[in-house]
Amino acid sequence: MWNLAYAGHLPIQGTEIAREWDVLYWFIMAISVFFFAIVIGGMILFAIKYRSKEGAKSSYIHGHVPLEITWTIIPTILLLVIFGWGWVVYRDMTQPPIGAYEVRVIGKQWLWQFQYPDGRSTINELYFPANKPVKLIMTSEDVLHSFFIPNFRVKKDVVPGMYTSVWFNTKTPGRHQIYCTEYCGTSHSGMLAVAYALDEKQWAEFERGKKPQIPLAEGGATGSKPALKLADIGKQLTKTKGCIACHTEDGSQLVGPSYKGLFGKEREFADGSKATADENYLIESINEPQKRLVKGFQPVMPVFQGQLSAEDLNAIVEYIKSVK
Ligand code: CUA
Repeated sequence: MWNLAYAGHLPIQGTEIAREWDVLYWFIMAISVFFFAIVIGGMILFAIKYRSKEGAKSSYIHGHVPLEITWTIIPTILLLVIFGWGWVVYRDMTQPPIGAYEVRVIGKQWLWQFQYPDGRSTINELYFPANKPVKLIMTSEDVLHSFFIPNFRVKKDVVPGMYTSVWFNTKTPGRHQIYCTEYCGTSHSGMLAVAYALDEKQWAEFERGKKPQIPLAEGGATGSKPALKLADIGKQLTKTKGCIACHTEDGSQLVGPSYKGLFGKEREFADGSKATADENYLIESINEPQKRLVKGFQPVMPVFQGQLSAEDLNAIVEYIKSVK
């Protein structure tokens, strides 16, 4: 029956709960519009009809018991319906079915890390099977963040020192945008991730330890697209992996050094030693950022060892080289 729910300006309905949520939303919206029309329309109508006339005296109005009972009982019933209905949807949203696939989520300035039951972890990419309940158990490593997947209508604060959780079950494979919706510092708006609901074949691949083949381009594979240059693939990776939250390509400095003119430059480290930024240095800085920390920067970058394939690393290094 929920299939009738109209999404309108809302994000697509990625789950059954999203549909339930939208039906309730439009119900409340319809009631609000109806009463808005009656109240404001009546006000305008009366202002015109009963506007003051020369010498006119307004009549003294006594109470009207049946009217007062009506406008007390009808709104009370409506509010109780909204409460009861809201409670049912909230209950469905907050109680995951037993046996849900569990993924741990760590929010940190400014990326999302996902840890899977088999010990693997990914950054800014969340993989899970479609058509199966998934529960996210979330915490933060630094400040308050908020985890939001609009298409699933799930949103919850991610708080240091405690766990919060959300769950969802999306029937169809596909990709969905993840946002941070709690201001958490300079690159809050860059704290983006993508949720990939995998079909059975892709999920089997993922469970075998392989990364499922998903096209790099935004919006998935539709039609043919021109092949990307290696540096362009690297540039895209710096977006999807969250690098650009801390590193710029225009020379401006965020939490980490800018890529601009980095390649081939002499780097000075916190311990006073020096080295030239060549390919090996770049790969080391990605895999083990704290091994040689550039002077003047904090040791805050997460370790990417095991997160990126050799292909991905090649592309990113090629991209950094290209930023002159
Ligand atoms: Cu994390 Cu905003």
